[in-house]
Amino acid sequence: MTISAKSAAILFLFGCISWSSASAQKTDGLRSSGRDWWKHAVFYEIYPRSFADSNNDGVGDLRGIASKLDYLKGLGVDAIWISPCFPSPQVDFGYDVSDYENIDPMYGTLADFDFLASEAKKRNIHIILDFVVNHTSDQHKWFLDSKSSRTSAHRDWYIWRDGKGSGQPPNNWVSTFGGPAWKFDPTTNQWYYHFFYPEQPDLNWRNPAVQAAMFDVTRWWYKRGVSGFRLDAVDTLFEDPNLKDNPVRRPGKNDFGDPFLENKYNTKLPEVHDVLRGLRKIANEYDAVLIGETWTANVAELDEYYGKGNDELQLPMDFLFTMVNKLSPAEFRKQIAEVNAASGWPTFVISNHDIRRSYDRYGDGKHNDQIAKLMAALYLTLRGTPILYYGEEIGMKTTPPTRLEDVKDPIGRKGWPGEKGRDGERTPMQWNDSANAGFSAAKPWLPVPDTYKTHNVADEAKNPDSILAFYKRVLSLRHSNKALLDGDYKALNESDSNVLSYLRVHNDQAVVVVLNMSATPQRSILPLKANGFASAKRLLASGNSSLQGSVVSLPPYGVFIGQLAK
Ligand code: GLC
Repeated sequence: MTISAKSAAILFLFGCISWSSASAQKTDGLRSSGRDWWKHAVFYEIYPRSFADSNNDGVGDLRGIASKLDYLKGLGVDAIWISPCFPSPQVDFGYDVSDYENIDPMYGTLADFDFLASEAKKRNIHIILDFVVNHTSDQHKWFLDSKSSRTSAHRDWYIWRDGKGSGQPPNNWVSTFGGPAWKFDPTTNQWYYHFFYPEQPDLNWRNPAVQAAMFDVTRWWYKRGVSGFRLDAVDTLFEDPNLKDNPVRRPGKNDFGDPFLENKYNTKLPEVHDVLRGLRKIANEYDAVLIGETWTANVAELDEYYGKGNDELQLPMDFLFTMVNKLSPAEFRKQIAEVNAASGWPTFVISNHDIRRSYDRYGDGKHNDQIAKLMAALYLTLRGTPILYYGEEIGMKTTPPTRLEDVKDPIGRKGWPGEKGRDGERTPMQWNDSANAGFSAAKPWLPVPDTYKTHNVADEAKNPDSILAFYKRVLSLRHSNKALLDGDYKALNESDSNVLSYLRVHNDQAVVVVLNMSATPQRSILPLKANGFASAKRLLASGNSSLQGSVVSLPPYGVFIGQLAK
């Protein structure tokens, strides 16, 4: 995996609030309950630094999140995935964990977590935490002990090796965040391995003690009321024990000045699947869900993450979908068809804290709001589980820093100007048009984009034509319509190069979704009879899309969603 904010397609409480097992919960409308609750749930990723700041120190926190649960409920969210909120030196803004079983004081306390969990439970919102499985912080007590001597109890919890010669790392591997993937430690005269920053040493998952300790972390949080984990960087868990050099993929140097290597011997090793099976077994005891950060080259690779016996991840994210970086019906059709043919339930995202926001990735600069609705209509009506990224529902844009001295994300400082880092997609949530967009009374850790005056929750909540109002309508429809929840996916009019349309068919019910991905008005004929239906009626539309008989007329980037009848 590589992470580059530059390109849009980035490759690269205790028992009392447990959701657990036998007692299947009753949920609203058609929201599902019991073991497969995650199939019908709508997930929402919260980057806690940037969501809501309750103590006005410029950084978001758990009490801030708790204060926005009614908003999330009203939007139609069933589960929140909180990016890492554990104690951390914050080198990688929480993805460098120094204690897996606590909350960073910046975000609050365990009592604040318990409060959030109990408030969320009252609203039937599940909490998903972000489990950084590949590495810890270099300040974690395990690593501090590991580096203290060659014979320390935790020495073998990390990957230590002798260099090839004086000043020479053990092999040619490079860190995905720039520079060699090895750091020399003079105390013990050995090198340790880090796929990411040197402050993020890789755990040695071949050591059963590491496995046991990490599995226990999940139990600890399940017992505290967590309903699952998003597993960070799963493909990097294992390395070739012989440390073979990685082959050069192409000539030249990347933005960090490193060679382009194929991560053949340090990613996607088959042993990853043993760990995922182990984590799933525990998750099953708590009816929990495992979501994967699964960057893959194709759907066949993605498919492997469900597990041969459907015993690994329930929701491996389909990042290939985020790599269709243009409004191309043909490319989306192909991608959707492939992921529908996979062995598990699809998981759709259109942006996250590592990827430029969808608003400007798909926007043409002129119809961005309309295109934001079009994208919402797409990924929220497909067969599968959607994961929203905070701010997408109000049309937040990517706002990268313009000066090196303003960059917070270390990869942006290292790779400037080619790689500006990921600050642009992590700016504060835009709640209203007051100072700092209502995120905080203090200066926020990242600047608020100038669009907060036009794109914010308070104003959009009042405007029936807003992106937010559209998200709410689509999500409400999704929660109440059996065909949208469980229906099969069937592509329609497959040779149309402007309009993407498909059916979701469930028994004798069907919903049709028609999306004009072009800047010109389009007409689309619904093949009703050929699919066994007699008529259609409008459920939801954007722009002034309309239906006459079986002909849908769509303005540029218009959306039409209809119910078909026999
Ligand atoms: C994942 C996270 C990313 C983080 C990296 C290292 O890719 O999404 O934000 O920097 O892992 O933990």
